Amino acid sequence: MDWSPIAKPRGALRREPCLMDYEQARRDFTWGQANNWLSGLRGGALNMAFEAVDRYAAGASGERLAIRFLARGAPSADLSFRDLADASHRFANVLSRLGVQRGERVATLMGRVPALYATVLGTLAEGAVYCPLFSAFGPEPVRARLSLGSVRVLVTTDLLYRRKVAPIRDQLPQLEHVLVVRTPGAGDLPAGTADFEVAMNTASTEFAAVHTAPDDYALLHFTSGTTGQPKGVLHVHAAVSAHVATARWVLDLQAGDVYWCTADPGWVTGISYGVIAPLACGVGMIVDREEFDAPRWYEILDTERVTVWYTAPTAIRMLMKAGVELARTRTYPALRHLASVGEPLNPEAVVWGVAALGLPFHDTWWQTETGAIMIANYACMPIRPGSMGRPVPGIEAGIVRPREDDGVDVVEAAGEVGELALRPGWPSMFRGYLNEEARYRKCFRGGWYLSGDLAQRDADGYYWFVGRTDDVIKAAGHLISPFEVESALMTHPAVSQAGVIGIPDPIAGSVVKAFVELKSGYEAGEALQRELLAHARRLLGVAVAPREIAFAAQLPRTRSGKIMRRLLRARELGLPEGDLSTLEGDS
Ligand code: WT7
Repeated sequence: MDWSPIAKPRGALRREPCLMDYEQARRDFTWGQANNWLSGLRGGALNMAFEAVDRYAAGASGERLAIRFLARGAPSADLSFRDLADASHRFANVLSRLGVQRGERVATLMGRVPALYATVLGTLAEGAVYCPLFSAFGPEPVRARLSLGSVRVLVTTDLLYRRKVAPIRDQLPQLEHVLVVRTPGAGDLPAGTADFEVAMNTASTEFAAVHTAPDDYALLHFTSGTTGQPKGVLHVHAAVSAHVATARWVLDLQAGDVYWCTADPGWVTGISYGVIAPLACGVGMIVDREEFDAPRWYEILDTERVTVWYTAPTAIRMLMKAGVELARTRTYPALRHLASVGEPLNPEAVVWGVAALGLPFHDTWWQTETGAIMIANYACMPIRPGSMGRPVPGIEAGIVRPREDDGVDVVEAAGEVGELALRPGWPSMFRGYLNEEARYRKCFRGGWYLSGDLAQRDADGYYWFVGRTDDVIKAAGHLISPFEVESALMTHPAVSQAGVIGIPDPIAGSVVKAFVELKSGYEAGEALQRELLAHARRLLGVAVAPREIAFAAQLPRTRSGKIMRRLLRARELGLPEGDLSTLEGDS
């Protein structure tokens, strides 16, 4: 099918977009200019939390809506910028009282509850480094990340603490303080924790954001690689200028908007565009505490008069599955701009947006490492359905091929596949992988940052996603390390080897499938299959555990003993097997 470019339907453009002339902005913009959108602190200091709340909390704008929390069966709860500043100041004082020093790590393990927003902003204000964890992780991914991050303070809920942290707490000597948000009726405060509310209520609302330097670390996001431990991606306070610039240009956030980002705050989108960017633009947002629910989502878009919506392909595909008729039971007169991120957005989904909501979805591309949107379709330009769009002003992108030496060849020709690369130097570029200098350096080559994605650029400069250069799995938008899943499976006494791949799924993009080789004395069969699935789920959590497990008499290995996931995948999907020269047993 031919997907011709689509412009926004007439009448949909209710406001002039922030970015009116893409070509001109690309030509003229330099990152120094983005500082005009920030307030800054005396002596060249910059603090993300100050930019996001404090500067709006003072004066008349303090009464403006910052966050409206929605929850099933409860009235909505509004926080103004002033309220949010007060709560974040209280939390900053809690941290000071605990003796948390600049640069030390504070983590959260929870969903979209009010305490999360106070924790993120209070941590940044205090000069500590904030690290989100995904609440659907099982105890093992939580342990690995808290340990790698040397996290000293964790904020979670009593329920999550009991299930995910208590079983591994004795393996985390660095974790000194756990503050829990209590659930009514959930029993006593768990041993070894303190009550979040009590700590907050006894702390002052007076706190002046620490004068961090623009290059001081602010955020630590864990992401997954093909091998080894999760990678701790470090971002600095200056990243906020990229958050503001992209929120304006790409999400088209403007004063008076009602913004809704559906991303989970356990991942980078949920923090960069679910907390920092909208607030730093002075824009109010909707936070829905519930998980995906098609009728509920349409109701929110309608009754809350959402103007800008940032969501993800898996969610859009779930809405599509629920049928366009459901979308049409409501109207969305306030809606102005729709955007998507995290995985390939099917061209059908872009166009479906028009049928269902009256507007197309604008695809955007970025990564945990890039810290902010790098490539996008803009409100002022026709969308090419299936394309990720064009580089954000201030970003130089390219298609490159790594050479034998340390350099790269830049692919100039349109339509040629290569690795998507970016010229380093934008403010939200990651500044390191925690404690892994060599791994960080390997991401840069010949003056480019190499993304690990394969893409092509068309003659008009639009980028098209092709695939990944590595074996990481994108399941429902979450990046999953096959190594982490294999390691968990191998802790089961029956398993001698495991190979984990992603297999295509019409809704989630990919789902995790594991192949295991058993130790002698164990019988492959349904009972063991069930047991292994349960074992993986217990350790990893539902979001990471394999959906399917199959037994293999012998997994394909290289002569050096590495499992050949690519070959497993090719065999599973009936694809060409490719280069087998390193396969063990072949000669
Ligand atoms: C990887 C980064 C982007 C923030 C949340 C995910 C894939 C991202 C797109 C897109 C096709 C996409 C890439 C990328 N990805 N956006 N628009 N089209 N693929 O951050 O977990 O670090 O994942 O997500 O493979 O490298 P992340």
